[in-house]
Amino acid sequence: MQKTISLFSVVGMALGMTAGSAAAEEKIDFEKQIWPFVKESCVKCHKPPYTDERGRKRKPKSGMVITNKKGFMEGGEEGAVIVPGKPDESEFLQRTLLPLDHDDHQPPEGKAPEWTDEQKKLFEAWIKAGADFGAWERDPEVDKK
Ligand code: HEC
Repeated sequence: MQKTISLFSVVGMALGMTAGSAAAEEKIDFEKQIWPFVKESCVKCHKPPYTDERGRKRKPKSGMVITNKKGFMEGGEEGAVIVPGKPDESEFLQRTLLPLDHDDHQPPEGKAPEWTDEQKKLFEAWIKAGADFGAWERDPEVDKK
C-alpha cells in the first residue's frame, strides 16, 4: 500500500512539473489565441460609437471599447476590467464566469456566443501571465470611428 501511494505521488509530481513547464514555455499569443473569441462574443456591444442600419446612434455599452489595446486596458465606467497578473480582480473575465442567469453575466444571456470553459481558462492564463497583447494594437476591421 505504502508503495502504491508513493508511486502515485511521484507520477503526480512528474505530471505537475510537465504541465508547469509547458505553460511557462508556451507563451499565449493574444492576437491568434484570445482575440478571435473575444471578438466573436464581446465586440458587438463594446466597440466605438457607430450609426446602425436604421440610422440610430449606438454607443459602446458601459463606455467600454475593446477594439484597441488602449480602450481595452482603460475599461468602462467602473474603470479597469483587466488587471495584469490578477484574474480574480479582472472584471472582463469574472463576468463570463458568473451563472448565466446572473444580472452581471457577460455576454448578456442569449445575445452572443458564450465562451467555452477552455476559452475562459485560456483567458485566465493570459491575464495571469501579465495580459501581454504582443504586437496587437487594434483590430482595424471593428475599431472604426
Ligand atoms: C448584447 C450586448 C453585449 C455583449 C455581446 C457583451 N456585453 Fe458586456 N455589457 C453590456 C451592457 C449592456 C453592459 C452594461 C451593464 C452591465 O454592466 O452589466 C455591459 C458591461 C460590461 C462590463 C462592465 C464594464 C464596467 O464598466 O465595469 C464588462 C466587464 C463586460 N460588459 C464584459 C463583456 C464581455 C467579457 C463580453 C463577451 C464575453 C461582453 N461584455 C459582451 C452588453 C454586452
